[in-house]
Amino acid sequence: MAVSRRHFFQTLSAAALAGGWRLPAADMIIRGARPEDFEMPLSGFDSWITPNERFFVRTHVYTPSVDLAAWRLRVEGEVSAPLTLSMNELKQLPRVELVSVLECAGNGRSFYQPTLAGLQWQHGAVGNGRWAGVRLADVLKKAGYKASAKEVLFNGADVPIGTMPDFQRAIPLEKALHADTMLAFEMNGQPLPASHGFPLRVIAPGWAGDSWVKWLTHIEVRDKEFDGFFMKTAYRRPVRTVTPGAPVDASLMTPVTLLGIKSVIASPVEGQMLAEGPATVRGVAWSGESPVARVDVSTDNGRTWQPAKLGTDQARYAWRMWEAQWTPRQAGSYVLMARAFNRAGETQPLVQEWNPSGYLWNVVQQVRVEVGAKAGLPQSPPPSTYAPFPEKVKTSCIGCHGEEMITGQRLTRPQWEREVDKMKGWGASVKPEDRSEIVDYLLSQFGLKR
Ligand code: HEC
Repeated sequence: MAVSRRHFFQTLSAAALAGGWRLPAADMIIRGARPEDFEMPLSGFDSWITPNERFFVRTHVYTPSVDLAAWRLRVEGEVSAPLTLSMNELKQLPRVELVSVLECAGNGRSFYQPTLAGLQWQHGAVGNGRWAGVRLADVLKKAGYKASAKEVLFNGADVPIGTMPDFQRAIPLEKALHADTMLAFEMNGQPLPASHGFPLRVIAPGWAGDSWVKWLTHIEVRDKEFDGFFMKTAYRRPVRTVTPGAPVDASLMTPVTLLGIKSVIASPVEGQMLAEGPATVRGVAWSGESPVARVDVSTDNGRTWQPAKLGTDQARYAWRMWEAQWTPRQAGSYVLMARAFNRAGETQPLVQEWNPSGYLWNVVQQVRVEVGAKAGLPQSPPPSTYAPFPEKVKTSCIGCHGEEMITGQRLTRPQWEREVDKMKGWGASVKPEDRSEIVDYLLSQFGLKR
C-alpha cells in the first residue's frame, strides 16, 4: 500500500528538507518515504521527456547530501594513471547528451504471481530523461585502463543502513567502453537532483536502473568479477524457465542487465467506462538497446491487431509514444492490449515468466474497459486498513524505514520469516522469543495463505 501524503510529510526528516530536497509532483505514488521510493502514476506517460519532479525514484538508503566543493571522483584499479577529478576537471572532457529510458529492474513486481517481497511497483518505476555528461570511456582512457581490465565497479557517496551491505555495482568492460555509456551531471537540463544522484551518476542506456549508480565517487577497474551482495545475491535472474514460487539454485542465476521490450497502455485505464463513439488508446513503448519499430493494438482480447501510430520523437534508447483510434461496434466489455516490436525483431511475451525477485516484468498488458451510455473513471478501491503495529513490531521494525515498506507486501509465512531474518542480518533487533509473535502479526495483516 502507498502512504498518504500527510503521512509522508510527517515522516520527512528535517535533514532531508535542509539538504535542498525537492518535493515530488503531487500525484506521485509514495511507496517509501525514507528511503525514498516514488512511482509515477499512469498519467505521467503523457510526455516524451519525463519532467524531473515526475521521474520515479528508487533508493536503497537515505539520500546523501553531497558537498560539490569537496566531492571528487576517484578512478583506480587496473589503470596506469589513477585519477582524482573535481567536477570542473571532469567537465574538461567532451560533453555528450543522450535521451534514454531509465527503468527499475523491479518495475511491475506487484503483478507477479506468486507474490514476492520487495517494493510493489506497478507500471511507473520508469521515465524517459535527457542526460548530459561525459563518456565513461573517455574517463577510463584518461586513466589508462590496462589490458587486464574486465569490468568496471561503481560506488557512490551513499551510506548503508544498519549492517546492510554497501550498494556497489559493476558492468562489463564492453558496456563501460560503449560510446553511449556516460557519467551524467545533468538531467533534463538541470544539475542532477539529489534523489537522482547529485552530482554524478552512471548512465547505462538500455540496461535496468541497478547499473545506473548514483552519487558516484569511486570507479574501480577490475580484472575479475566483483562478488559484493548487490552483484552476487541481489539483482539476479534465472537463465532459464523456473517453477513459479520454488527456490532457484544460485548457479542458475545471472545479473540483471538489459531491459526487455515493453509497452504500457496509459489511457484508458483498467475499469474505465467509455461513452459509445470514437476513442483513443495511447501509451508508450521502449526496448533495451534496440529501438521500438512498431506497436500493435488489439481491442478484442488479442484476436485481431492493428498497428498504432508512433510519435515523431525518437532516439535509440528512448521510449516512443503511440496511439490508436478505436470505435467500438457496440456497448459491452472490451479487453485492450498493446504489443511492441523492436528493430531486432523481438516482441513482448503473452505469458510472463516468473523469477524469484520479480524483475523485468514485460508481458503484454491487458486493460478491461466498459463501453456504454456513460463515461467515467473507475472508483478507486477503498484504502486498505490494518491493525496498528503492536509494540514489539514497532520496536523491531520501525526506525530504519517507515511502516509503508511493510504494509505494501502480501507474503506467506515462509516469506515473512525470511524477511524478518534478513532484517535481523541487517541490524534489526528481534529477540528470539519475539520472532514468532512478529511473524504472526505480519502474516495476519499482510499475509497470504498458500
Ligand atoms: C537496521 C535497519 C532495519 C530494520 C530495523 C528493519 N529493516 Fe526492513 N529494510 C531495511 C533496509 C535497508 C531495507 C531495504 C531498502 C531498500 O533496498 O530499498 C529494508 C527493506 C524491507 C522490506 C522490503 C523488502 C526487502 O527485503 O527489501 C521489508 C518487507 C522489510 N524491510 C521489513 C522489515 C521488518 C518486518 C522489520 C522488523 C522485523 C524490518 N524491516 C526492520 C532496514 C531495516
